[in-house]
Amino acid sequence: MDPVLGTMTPASAIDDASYLDFVEGVRAFNLGQVQPVVAQRYHQAAAAFAAAHGRPPASLADAHAVLDPLPVYRARNRLWRSGQEMMWRGIVDTYRKREAELLAELDAADRRGPGSVQWSPTFRYPDYFEAYDAHIQPGSYHRDPLAGYIYHYGTKIFSTGSNNHDDNQRSQVQRSPAPADGVVRRILDLGCSIGQSATAWQERFPNAEVWAIDIAAPMVRYAHKRATELGLPVHFRQMLAEQLDFPDGTFDIVHAYILFHEIPVPIIRQTLREAARVLRPGGIFVVWDFGRRYYKDGSPYQEAMLEFVTFDNGEPFAQDFCHLDFPAEIRAAGFGTVEETDIGILTMTVATR
Ligand SMILES: C[S@@+](CC[C@H](N)C(=O)[O-])C[C@H]1O[C@@H](n2cnc3c(N)ncnc32)[C@H](O)[C@@H]1O
Repeated sequence: MDPVLGTMTPASAIDDASYLDFVEGVRAFNLGQVQPVVAQRYHQAAAAFAAAHGRPPASLADAHAVLDPLPVYRARNRLWRSGQEMMWRGIVDTYRKREAELLAELDAADRRGPGSVQWSPTFRYPDYFEAYDAHIQPGSYHRDPLAGYIYHYGTKIFSTGSNNHDDNQRSQVQRSPAPADGVVRRILDLGCSIGQSATAWQERFPNAEVWAIDIAAPMVRYAHKRATELGLPVHFRQMLAEQLDFPDGTFDIVHAYILFHEIPVPIIRQTLREAARVLRPGGIFVVWDFGRRYYKDGSPYQEAMLEFVTFDNGEPFAQDFCHLDFPAEIRAAGFGTVEETDIGILTMTVATR
């Protein structure tokens, strides 16, 4: 395992790695140097808006009236979008150079343990999922057989190198509660992507059976490959979160990390009902997703940031998710208590069955 990159597959050439390092620097610069100036200029310009209108900006339209004339806002958006496009192009190009080798690696991993993977080449993806490229990743999570490799390197650049060792997922899993009776035999991770939370759950509960599902075949295949390299016996399945193929009451913990802002509201509701169905009484449902304070505070400035993510970063359902009363939806799906804790830009929502 690479000491810097962790379980990630290195770029195919030093030139490619250097280019991607530059792209990561562009993103770090935008987040660290440009974004704070946008916020600062917004607040100055919002004061001028309030003086002119006799009220502060109160809507997304007001936010645009304040933000759009600011060059630094437009520069921030262009840097974000172009950085994201450069990132994916660079990653796709570097892995494409040894596509045959990486596909053979996935094929070999499909057949070995520990743990297991199941997926189908004839799986029919729902229309809502086919309709967009998540995070503008070319081919999204599912159309490129190397999507797992590509997404993993993308998360490195997106998090500017701070998650190379699953640091986020590990700390979130550690901070997630367990059922009050302490019984943890089976855990399910929904929308597992490349399996970073699932492996963290398996590390935390080595004697539990950990199951992890994702709609996208390349994700579960790569997740399984990665888990086998870590020696962790997670079971990965290609499956819809809204249509789980598990009997009632199977799990003690059902977990989802940043899945819900990526699915449409009717699918959110179906998924919540499924989570309630597969949990045993007393089991807990732990959801980490876009935060109440950060994205759901309703301020015009945050609405503009959320709008950007929704329409320019390939997360078309994010705005609807953030406008939803998520705890009320969870209760309506059959859960008892629901508690929310804001941690950084995320909110951890915990519900008991
Ligand atoms: C942002 S990623 C989740 C990250 C992941 N949970 C982790 O631990 O790092 C969202 C994932 O949800 C999956 N997904 C989207 N819609 C889904 C659905 N209806 N059922 C199952 N998975 C879905 C996507 O394929 C993608 O891998």
